[in-house]
Amino acid sequence: MVKPKKVTTHVLQEMKLHGRKIAMITAYDYSLARIIDSTGIDIVLVGDSASNVMAGNESTLPITLDQMIYHATSVVKAINRALVVVDMPFGTYQGNSKEALCSAIKIMKETGAHAVKLEGGREILESVGRILSAGIPVMGHLGLMPQSIHKYGTYVVRATEEEEAGKLINDAQLLEKAGCFALVLEKIPAKLASSVSASLKIPVIGIGAGRDVDGQVLVLHDMLGIIQDFSPRFLRRYHNLYEEIKGAVQNYTDDVKNMNFPNEKEQY
Ligand code: KIV
Repeated sequence: MVKPKKVTTHVLQEMKLHGRKIAMITAYDYSLARIIDSTGIDIVLVGDSASNVMAGNESTLPITLDQMIYHATSVVKAINRALVVVDMPFGTYQGNSKEALCSAIKIMKETGAHAVKLEGGREILESVGRILSAGIPVMGHLGLMPQSIHKYGTYVVRATEEEEAGKLINDAQLLEKAGCFALVLEKIPAKLASSVSASLKIPVIGIGAGRDVDGQVLVLHDMLGIIQDFSPRFLRRYHNLYEEIKGAVQNYTDDVKNMNFPNEKEQY
């Protein structure tokens, strides 16, 4: 079998240069990551959204470094082509750049992933710089930053006011200058995202940031319709897996109870 050409940070840079859109999606386990990688997806994000969709927490704050490493290790084993990026969880990089470097090194050493993602702008610049100085590629994340939910108080669209938009533009430039290879913009006005993307050389990946950016990212369980009680405007559901899984398991349960499973051919 011919091995697929691997996506690197340089490939992503080329894609931006030539106007080719970048597709990114989350994954948290081996089985689904294998399916995802076979589609030609460019970036697989082991997101700290695992805290919500895998662990059932209300926010991304509780997930630990070791839990992220567990998810990322499983995903990396399944990936042949995509670039694997791992979210650095809350509390592992803010405020202490030495701790940030140790956390990033632990992720890279123990998972085999290719890059890390951090939320924030100028406040975390020292951590970003220190991680980059160790040769670890960093993806930035601005706009709605779920790790700061208790500061915002709500998940509404960010940077609609001039002051916050100005800070975001500034932070995006700082992150590019520091050496980040890409930037995620979450839930901000499309016009703002478009102008940030146009002003940066690095790829800008949007989620709820309109179409005029360099790529898109969605949370796998949301776009597959496994999670039903989350339906922001930006989310396109490509399937209704909740109903499909429910139907299949319902049939199995009924078959067991009615002694329709196993049949004679399904035994030894
Ligand atoms: O954790 C996550 O899934 C993310 C995406 C929403 C970009 O950060």
